[in-house]
Amino acid sequence: MSSGKRVLLIVGGGIAAYKALELVRLLRKRGISVRAVLTKAGEEFVTPLSLSALTEDKVYTDLFSLTDEAEMGHIQLSRSADLIVVAPATADLLAKMRAGLAGDLASTLLLATDTPVLAAPAMNVRMWTHAATQENVKVLAERGISFIGPDEGDMACGEFGPGRMAEPTAIAEAVAAQLDPAAKPLAGKRAVVTSGPTYEPIDPVRYIANRSSGKQGHAIAAALAAAGAEVTLVTGPTREPDPAGVTVRHIETARQMLAGVEAALPADIAIFAAAVADWRVAEEAPQKLKKNGSREIPALSMTENPDILKTVSGLDGKRPALVIGFAAETENVIPHATEKRARKGCDWIMANDVSPATGTFGGDANTIHLITGDGAEDWPTLTKKEVAVKLAARITEHFTA
Ligand SMILES: Cc1cc2nc3c(=O)[nH]c(=O)nc-3n(C[C@H](O)[C@H](O)[C@H](O)COP(=O)(O)O)c2cc1C
Repeated sequence: MSSGKRVLLIVGGGIAAYKALELVRLLRKRGISVRAVLTKAGEEFVTPLSLSALTEDKVYTDLFSLTDEAEMGHIQLSRSADLIVVAPATADLLAKMRAGLAGDLASTLLLATDTPVLAAPAMNVRMWTHAATQENVKVLAERGISFIGPDEGDMACGEFGPGRMAEPTAIAEAVAAQLDPAAKPLAGKRAVVTSGPTYEPIDPVRYIANRSSGKQGHAIAAALAAAGAEVTLVTGPTREPDPAGVTVRHIETARQMLAGVEAALPADIAIFAAAVADWRVAEEAPQKLKKNGSREIPALSMTENPDILKTVSGLDGKRPALVIGFAAETENVIPHATEKRARKGCDWIMANDVSPATGTFGGDANTIHLITGDGAEDWPTLTKKEVAVKLAARITEHFTA
């Protein structure tokens, strides 16, 4: 139970700071007490008075405030909580955390603590996708900092993309999960997930690919990591940012994807959400194919790619306990997926209708039929993130049953 626990909330200087007020309300509703620290820039967006009124506590803003030090030293402040939550976590705060800077109260607290930290990044899409921020997040995740979000969507700056702070309800949920160890039900489990399309080269500049966005596979990797699993994501080229707290291997071809999966074994769970090309060009041209004025159109001779799902399902010794494949079908979804489960030798198939009318490929929603040894479960239409969370819960159920 998270009730009775204490959170130190660090509010950075971003537009999303206003959402921190709602977060305080939601945490307190769960019986979690909140003490707030506001950065100098944060004070430009929300007032200490609002935070103080909602936390019913003093709000800390200044490292060199004598009264703060007399009442509660900054070291003590960072240790007085069960969890430190940084929301919004600005690009600046993430960079300071990574570098170990301690030039103000917020960064000093973050450096002076061994209390677990959950960060909710919020920033402009270009700030978030910048190599510096991505590297900072990767390093911080490796050091054990947990992340929630950011979400993708319209941003206050008028742009669209990943960078929007996770909604306060989702952050409150993640805080409660972090404060309650039973909420990490997949802790100790290893998982490998594939995502995105594969690119199969024709010549050095051309390739055969498909329209997979990677949204579903990436969401699954993130949901398993949030449930406590140690996750490796092997992904083809996508526009999705690397999920925080996940080891990500970027590959292009089906053969590289298989090698990436094999390198991630042994694992307890394998989920193959990638849209792997069934065939590749038999012989990749070493140089760019030219027209050369000839009217003859070159014929592409194809050969079969390795079948990753079947290969891993059939492994001796190293076969993960639970192997899950996806079936992207455009007709007779359940019969085709049931037949695929038997043919591949996997445990479950997540069957989805990807006919163009459904908008599943590249879209945000998915209607899943889960095919197991017991038959088909029809899931309602959910967002891909919701599908991922439901799948993580279903996997937990499987391992605890
Ligand atoms: C209007 C405005 C909005 C801003 N929004 C963000 C934001 O959403 N995320 C971010 O990382 N920085 C944002 N910044 C920049 C930060 O406020 C700036 O980097 C500041 O130094 C962060 O300080 P802090 O990390 O100590 O809170 C914004 C700046 C302005 C003027």
